[in-house]
Amino acid sequence: MGCSVTTIAEAPQDAPYLRPGRIGGLALRNRLVRASTSETMAAEDGTVTDALVRFYGALADGGAGLLLTGHIHVRADGQCTPRQIALHADRFIPGLRRLTARVHEGGARIFAELSHAGSQTMMPGVTPPAPSGIPSAIYPGVPRELPAAEVAAIVADFGAAARRAAEAGFDGIHLHGGNGYLISQFASPLTNRRDDAWGGDAARRGRFFIAVLDAVRAAVGPDMPVTARFGLRDSIAGGMTEEEGLARAAALTARGLDGFEPSLNLMASYRDNIRPYVGLGLARAMGDLVAPRLWSAPAPQGYYRPLARALRRVAPDKAIILVGGLRDTDVMAEVLAAGEADFLSFARPFVREPDFPKQLAAGRRGALDCVSCNICLQHDGYDALRCWRRDKGDLLRHALWRMRGAG
Ligand SMILES: Cc1cc2nc3c(=O)[nH]c(=O)nc-3n(C[C@H](O)[C@H](O)[C@H](O)COP(=O)(O)O)c2cc1C
Repeated sequence: MGCSVTTIAEAPQDAPYLRPGRIGGLALRNRLVRASTSETMAAEDGTVTDALVRFYGALADGGAGLLLTGHIHVRADGQCTPRQIALHADRFIPGLRRLTARVHEGGARIFAELSHAGSQTMMPGVTPPAPSGIPSAIYPGVPRELPAAEVAAIVADFGAAARRAAEAGFDGIHLHGGNGYLISQFASPLTNRRDDAWGGDAARRGRFFIAVLDAVRAAVGPDMPVTARFGLRDSIAGGMTEEEGLARAAALTARGLDGFEPSLNLMASYRDNIRPYVGLGLARAMGDLVAPRLWSAPAPQGYYRPLARALRRVAPDKAIILVGGLRDTDVMAEVLAAGEADFLSFARPFVREPDFPKQLAAGRRGALDCVSCNICLQHDGYDALRCWRRDKGDLLRHALWRMRGAG
């Protein structure tokens, strides 16, 4: 885990978020993590493109310590969005090897976020597998219930994808165990109505996550860091409670998970997790043409700090990676100084400013530029990931795209 930080230093380059840290045995140059953000930039079949290599190269050159990829599907029927990176066959290894080599040239480390989307998919023509035949709250398609033997096969697919990630030069594995995807679907009583080895009570609902961790650990060996985006509770009434989530976190800790990035489990909407207008005052909103802020309240900064504090209590020696609405350098320093987290993870701010860590190292302080308008999210699965506010032409193209009823 990252060494704890107790003082806020005066010299700019000595700010707590710029100090080196450690996840498992892996040293990182600072505490700034690029959170998983799906790119919509792979080829149609999921192969890495030159554009993806350039994209991750720019993030590495921009100074982040650790990059978490957007979710990568471990099985063909686990794809969430078009042009998502795939790792369900050995033929995807060479492209990813080019990508990790480019990141290492820039001095950063990179973990592969491994996932199966289950019912939460926008892919046409696929009847997705899930623990039970219950649609997600976000996508209407009714999934097919997995036979027990096929559950074990998907567990093995996670292991095989982890082995490929290690061969492709990744420094670690980040399991997508949150935000409504397959691991979350097994974890929640709302979507797991089974009564067999994989469901029926809290312990059996947690078994899929533990089996996936065991398979990944067996594939990559004891030394490679394995962390997880971890859904601590559902945001839907009657769903998985925080108590159940904490018990599961304790089990994963005992099983050798090296770190947690706390988040929600099942959600009613992506906006439950990707909250709009974080810390955005009206003056900045108007300056950046964010009209909806006039009738929408801003989300608070660091909105998962309570989840991080709860996880810290059950996993005191594991790396806690805080994601969700980190925008201001004062808040970043405060979270680390209080020992609430060891690493700070950012998705939308890196979309807008891929090199903000370098700027912080050069002494920049205050708010990052991202206004959390979520236009990048609306284009997920349709257009290559980018900030649509950097170029006013893009903002106009976005407005026309919405007027045509797209997204
Ligand atoms: C366009 C977009 C794509 C995302 N893709 C992923 C993903 O592939 N995997 C994941 O765990 N989270 C994903 N997220 C969620 C982010 O990692 C993060 O939890 C969320 O944006 C809140 O953090 P932020 O305030 O720093 O943006 C995505 C978010 C956005 C905006």
